[in-house]
Amino acid sequence: MKLGLNMNNKIIVAIDGYSSCGKSTIAKALAKHAGYTYVDTGAMYRAVALYVQRLGLANPESGYTDLLAQLKNIHIDFIQTPEGQHVTLNGEDVEAYIRTLEIGNLASQISTIKEVRAFLVAQQQAMGEKKGIVMDGRDIGTVVFPDAELKLFLTASPEVRAERRFKELEAKGERPIWEEVLADVNDRDYRDTHRAESPLRQADDAVVVDNSYMTREEQMQHIIHLFRERCATV
Ligand code: DC
Repeated sequence: MKLGLNMNNKIIVAIDGYSSCGKSTIAKALAKHAGYTYVDTGAMYRAVALYVQRLGLANPESGYTDLLAQLKNIHIDFIQTPEGQHVTLNGEDVEAYIRTLEIGNLASQISTIKEVRAFLVAQQQAMGEKKGIVMDGRDIGTVVFPDAELKLFLTASPEVRAERRFKELEAKGERPIWEEVLADVNDRDYRDTHRAESPLRQADDAVVVDNSYMTREEQMQHIIHLFRERCATV
């Protein structure tokens, strides 16, 4: 008879949710706690966007035909560095170039292309073959791993998320305008949830975690509890 928690039963944890919900912070912390691999799928879309920018392939009028022809030449991977996990594009560590607003917007555009999604989803599914993975994004519990053992859908009110982003921008020395930051959060939510290809939506069997009024500690404890509960039943 099996008693209690069996950490040998590795599972897949799929974390989806709106932008600025703290998905990656939670996903990284859970992966560390569990000894699992963390995969930031947003970084993969951002790396493709960087490739597009460098080669001047941002050409929606052409139906992105040049980009589609180049997909086979794009190799994305992750490496561990002293500063944490970095994404690589054709062997180059590109972490320093992918977190800009411009690349974020380009990633948002190219993530609407069916072929780009299929290209990245296949790689993400291969990464999860041996389980023991925490993956975050927008379509992980719905498209990439519809059978994931634990699905979390993170959310917080637009105002709370805008407040977090506002503070981040201030901390970077910028002078954000509250109305603009809030409008940007609402715009991104709209784009993420209304695109034709794999829009952001909560999987039917996902556990919703609204962290509007939770501290990071409270949230972590709640999620670790869910994780341990799930591991004990697989
Ligand atoms: O999470 P992020 O901001 O780094 O993601 C960058 C863009 O990629 C974002 O606009 C949404 C898109 N994305 C996606 O469509 N599907 C994913 N699984 C992850 C990100």
